[in-house]
Amino acid sequence: MNKAEIPVAQRAVLSMLLDDHREVKKLFKAFQQEKDKTAGEQIVREACEKLTVHTQLEEEVFYPFVRDNGGEAFKDLVDEAVVEHATAKDLIKQLSGMQAGDDLFAAKFTVLAEYVSHHVEEEETELFPKLIRQHVDLAPLQEPMTARKEALLAETAS
Ligand SMILES: [Fe+2]
Ligand SMILES: [Fe+2]
Repeated sequence: MNKAEIPVAQRAVLSMLLDDHREVKKLFKAFQQEKDKTAGEQIVREACEKLTVHTQLEEEVFYPFVRDNGGEAFKDLVDEAVVEHATAKDLIKQLSGMQAGDDLFAAKFTVLAEYVSHHVEEEETELFPKLIRQHVDLAPLQEPMTARKEALLAETAS
């Protein structure tokens, strides 16, 4: 999805989410190429932190707004997104109790990366384009999304 092609009413909010998607995808790739276990574990921790903030931000602020303002047409897409998040969050939780040398650590992160990549693809090819097509004005979301993201980042940093 090319940010320049996103109409102004949706651009700021969708750009914020697209940036997150790109950051985690970069980390997934970095993990695949990393041969050192300790460095690999660092990448996993960073990706899981970013995903935790991103999924929480979408679930607390973005998806409810889409449900309320997009109406019935968005119900199925948002429902599926929430279920996909639950699977991702479960794997993140399992990984948080593990170390790089543990059995299945790499496998769990690889599966997480696959799930998330699929989910991100759906958001970028179905949900976001539909919001644009249906002219759902996302501008009112910009401030609450930015504020909540900052708060969530501060929580994870502490
Ligand atoms: Fe999502
Ligand atoms: Fe997302």
